[in-house]
Amino acid sequence: MTGGSRGIGRRVAETLAADGFHVILTFRRNGELANEVVAGIRDAGGSAVAVRLELESEADIDALFAEHLPEGQRLDLLIASAAASAFHPVAELKVHHLERSWATNVRSFVQLSQRAVPRMTDGGRIVAITSYGSVRAFPGYGAIGADKAAIESWVRHMAAEFGRSGVTVNAVNAGLVDTDSLRHYYERPGVPPIESIVAKIPLGRVGTVDDVAGAVKFLTGPHGGYVTGHVLTVDGGLTVVAPPFWSEFP
Ligand SMILES: NC(=O)c1ccc[n+]([C@@H]2O[C@H](COP(=O)([O-])OP(=O)(O)OC[C@H]3O[C@@H](n4cnc5c(N)ncnc54)[C@H](OP(=O)(O)O)[C@@H]3O)[C@@H](O)[C@H]2O)c1
Repeated sequence: MTGGSRGIGRRVAETLAADGFHVILTFRRNGELANEVVAGIRDAGGSAVAVRLELESEADIDALFAEHLPEGQRLDLLIASAAASAFHPVAELKVHHLERSWATNVRSFVQLSQRAVPRMTDGGRIVAITSYGSVRAFPGYGAIGADKAAIESWVRHMAAEFGRSGVTVNAVNAGLVDTDSLRHYYERPGVPPIESIVAKIPLGRVGTVDDVAGAVKFLTGPHGGYVTGHVLTVDGGLTVVAPPFWSEFP
């Protein structure tokens, strides 16, 4: 799985390891954090290894498979959780922002899936973590929001094509989730306080990493085997409401 050093990916790694999977979790810069996650999983009786992976690099993706998943080795799950982009207004996005964002978020998902499916010899499950920015617009999220929408389209195309190989492909579309990247977004100057947004969420709170990991557990577990091509929204109701919001009524 990609992005296991922190946030949602970390909790997904811990959850899948607790379910008995050997987890290969990736990080980009935070090797120390990733190793802490691995140590925690092993202390709890699970099995995991941390691998450095730059999603923009096809050579890194090839090396990951060559070293940790050589041909002939069975793979059960691919979870694409890592993401990165530039939070700029559309008018300020440069070519390198667009290309790096697409390579990191979208191209890598396709490349990883292409290599994963032939190794899923006993059926397999692919899950991508997307976000409500795939279907809603908010400031600074254009580049990654469009990438998330593209991933959800790839999910449908892959589900149709890989179904005959017994592989399901789904996305978990998360709302606001309590992580360092959420704080990074809301702690920038001029961004409204998170509390003003939380008041508009029907369930009245931001999501937890466990809320998202639970959805991944369902899609990768015994009860999720006939679900494919689906985008499972886990957002506390954030995307079903519109102005005027309940919170604005007396
Ligand atoms: N947090 C939210 O509120 C929220 C809401 C909706 C959806 N999501 C989605 O949920 C997923 C996880 O989000 P998150 O907030 O927990 O963490 P995140 O900040 O989106 O991702 C962090 C993870 O991705 C890795 N990573 C970042 N850029 C990478 C790159 N270029 N190549 C390889 N790995 C890279 C990081 O490694 P290092 O630690 O080494 O940097 C870390 O493991 C993302 O897809 C995100 O878009 C998040």
